[in-house]
Amino acid sequence: MNYSKKTVRDVDVRGKKVLLRCDFNVPQDKSTGMITDDKRIVASLPTIRYLLEQGAAVVACSHLGKPKGEWKPALSLAPVAERLSQLLGRPVIFCKDVVGPDAKAKAAALQPGQIMLLENLRFEKGEEKNDPEFAKALASFAELYVSDAFGTVHRAHASTVGVAAYLPAVSGFLIGRELDVMGSALNDPKHPFVAILGGAKVSDKIGVINHLLEKADTIIIGGGMAYTFLKAKGQTIGKSLCEEDKLDYARDMMEKAKKNSVHFLLPVDTLAAAEFSADAKPVSLEGNIPADLMGMDIGPKTIANFTQAISGAGTVVWNGPMGVFEFPAFAEGTRAVARALSESGATTIVGGGDSAAAVEQLGYADKITHISTGGGASLEFLEGKELPGVACLLNR
Ligand code: 3PG
Repeated sequence: MNYSKKTVRDVDVRGKKVLLRCDFNVPQDKSTGMITDDKRIVASLPTIRYLLEQGAAVVACSHLGKPKGEWKPALSLAPVAERLSQLLGRPVIFCKDVVGPDAKAKAAALQPGQIMLLENLRFEKGEEKNDPEFAKALASFAELYVSDAFGTVHRAHASTVGVAAYLPAVSGFLIGRELDVMGSALNDPKHPFVAILGGAKVSDKIGVINHLLEKADTIIIGGGMAYTFLKAKGQTIGKSLCEEDKLDYARDMMEKAKKNSVHFLLPVDTLAAAEFSADAKPVSLEGNIPADLMGMDIGPKTIANFTQAISGAGTVVWNGPMGVFEFPAFAEGTRAVARALSESGATTIVGGGDSAAAVEQLGYADKITHISTGGGASLEFLEGKELPGVACLLNR
C-alpha cells in the first residue's frame, strides 16, 4: 500500500471551494446529546485552520453514529457545528440537509475564509452504498476534495472514496500524520519492535496478529483474548473469556511465532474474580485458573515481564487494554502498560478505540508519540490491508 499521498500543501487551495471529509463521529451523552469527548474535532483543526488561512472556502462533512439512511434528529451534527465554531473562534454555517436545497444554497454562497458543515452524511442512503449520484452531488459543492477522516478510511463510502472520482483528492494533516507515523512504524521500525495486543476477542485481532508476526520482534498478548491462547497451551482458564473456535488459530499463531523467531509473551499470572463486576474481590493467581473464577486483569509478574519488554523497545504499537480497566480494581495492568510506554524511549503508537481511551483516562496521553484517531481504521492499517479512503488519494 502506498502511503505517500499528496496533501493540502501540495496543491493550490487559494480561493478554492474545498469538500473536507472529517471524522466528527464523537461520543455524546445519551440523554443530553452533549459531546463527551471532542478529541476528533480538535484533531481536525490544523487542516481547517490552514485551509481557511489560505483563503479556501470549506464545505466540511462527516458522519455521526449509524443512522443507516434514516433521518434521526438525535444524530444531527448540529452540536458538532457549535463545538467546532467555539474551537475555531468563528462561525460555522450549519446546513439543514446534506445535498438538499439548504446545502446547495449555502455552498453556492460560501466565501473564501468561510466554513460550513453539512448535516450527517449517513442520513442519506447513498453515503454507505457509495452511490455515484450521491457522490457526484457532494462533489458538485467543491473544486477539490480533502480527506482528513482517518477514522473512516477503512470504509468505501461516497464521501470517503466516491467523491474522488469527480474531484482531485488529497489528504489533510491528520491523515498525513497517521500515515507517516504508523506507516514508518510498520515498514521501517526501530528495533526491537514490540506489538502489544489486548481487548476481549481474538477474532477482532486475527489479521493484526498474523501481519505483525511478519514484522515484530516481540508480540505481547493481554486482555480477554489472552485466555484463548492460554487454553490453547493447555492451561485451565475457569470462567474466563474464551473463543473455542479460535483455539486452533491460537496454536497456529504460536507456531508461526516460533518459526519466525518472534518472542510471544502471554500472561503468567492473573487477577481473577468470581463475577464480572466493579465490586468483585480480586484474587491473584499464577498459572491455572480454577473453575469458579474468571481472569479480569494481568498479574504483577506479567506486568514485570511486559514492562521489561517495553522498556528495551525501539518501537511499540499498542492496541487493546490488558484487563477490565473501567473497573478500578482491574485497571492496574492497563495502567502499567501505559506507564511503561510513557517511560520508554521508544516511538510509541496507540491504536484508537479502547486503548486510546485508556491512555487518556489514565493520564499518559501526552507522553505517547502518537495516539491514532482511528479505531477500526487503525486496526485495518496494522493488518496491512489496503484502506480505500487512502488508496483513492493522489500519489505524491
Ligand atoms: C469510528 O468511530 O471508528 C469511525 O468514525 C467509523 O465509524 P463506523 O464504524 O460507524 O463506520
